[in-house]
Amino acid sequence: MNFNFEQAFNFFPVPTDIQFGPGVLQSLPSRVQALSARKAFLVTDSGLREAGILDTVVALLQGNGVEVEVCDRVKADSGSQLIDSTTAELKRSGAGVVIGIGGGSSLDTAKAIAALATNPGSCLDYIGLHKVRNKPLPVIAIPTTAGTGSEVTLWSVFTDDSRGLKVAIGGFLLYPSVALCDPELTLTLPAHLTASTGMDALAHAIECYTNTACQPISGALALEAIRLIGLHLRTAVLNGSNREARYAMMLASTMAGIAMNPTRLGLAHALAMPLGSWSLHVPHGLILAMLLPLAMEFNYLAQADRFVDVARALGEPIDHLSRMEAARSAVEAVRVLARDIGIPASMAAYGLRPEHIKPVVEEAMKSGNIPVNPRKTAAADLERILRSLL
Ligand SMILES: [Fe+2]
Repeated sequence: MNFNFEQAFNFFPVPTDIQFGPGVLQSLPSRVQALSARKAFLVTDSGLREAGILDTVVALLQGNGVEVEVCDRVKADSGSQLIDSTTAELKRSGAGVVIGIGGGSSLDTAKAIAALATNPGSCLDYIGLHKVRNKPLPVIAIPTTAGTGSEVTLWSVFTDDSRGLKVAIGGFLLYPSVALCDPELTLTLPAHLTASTGMDALAHAIECYTNTACQPISGALALEAIRLIGLHLRTAVLNGSNREARYAMMLASTMAGIAMNPTRLGLAHALAMPLGSWSLHVPHGLILAMLLPLAMEFNYLAQADRFVDVARALGEPIDHLSRMEAARSAVEAVRVLARDIGIPASMAAYGLRPEHIKPVVEEAMKSGNIPVNPRKTAAADLERILRSLL
């Protein structure tokens, strides 16, 4: 692992109680009871109901004496209006714990409503870092994708419906109390979602590992996540019922999520927020899958030693290569991986047009991910990257 060994740094551990492994979902009722709650408010999307997972979870809770109220109206890039109206439902329900189950949007909505239950006003009043002051209701986060890492992060990302813009609430109080990471829940995830969410996890790990804020503790977690994803993402996409691949991908997603809390990410994630905004609703994972090789291409010269580590973690044969060639091979490895798992090379089909580029770049440049990007980034650089996706 390449680091500056004179670097002074701070690492804050994740306070979330992480329960990991096939079948850990079964411990949900006892987790609710350990949090002294008799009633749970469950937040999810209609896809989980259709997949039968919601019914299983509700039956599991009710069968063990836990009352449940369900909100299954979360959509991709769910918005502030849903958060505010669901908070009112949560308060009326008298539930003592919020359970978020699903992809990133369901988990982020659960985290936001739990915070709003004990903090007055609208979620829009808390955009930014450390604005939430009162301890939220406890959250149990149950991911059904291996990608966002939201179950172990301090962020809740959602759409500000008044502006159509993706925003985030962040802070130490936003961490879920418990994460139930059960790889069995991902066995039926469709191939295209496995591919895009897996690439999101890879983007978390690579942007974290190569950025200027990374330190050896986040670095170790991120590098192992990169290795696991390089070994297992293709299998998880092409043979979704492979338990080893699903286990490895969920582990990688969780490790990358823990790694990125203290470091933030890079230019691909800076662009992801506005590309998920306004009329552009390109799914977050797909944005990252398309942007990651382009961001790496732009960055590798500025942080070559770390990119050499990335290439090695991805299993590239680099021993006979020069340092720069080895760093460059990390970019190529990710490009080939994206191609192998069917990631499209253009956002045109998702509505990206030349007129979007200026406002997207303007918004991306305000991101806290830009100052830590390994290579100094100007608006013109982001414009060039986006044009290659038209
Ligand atoms: Fe992400």
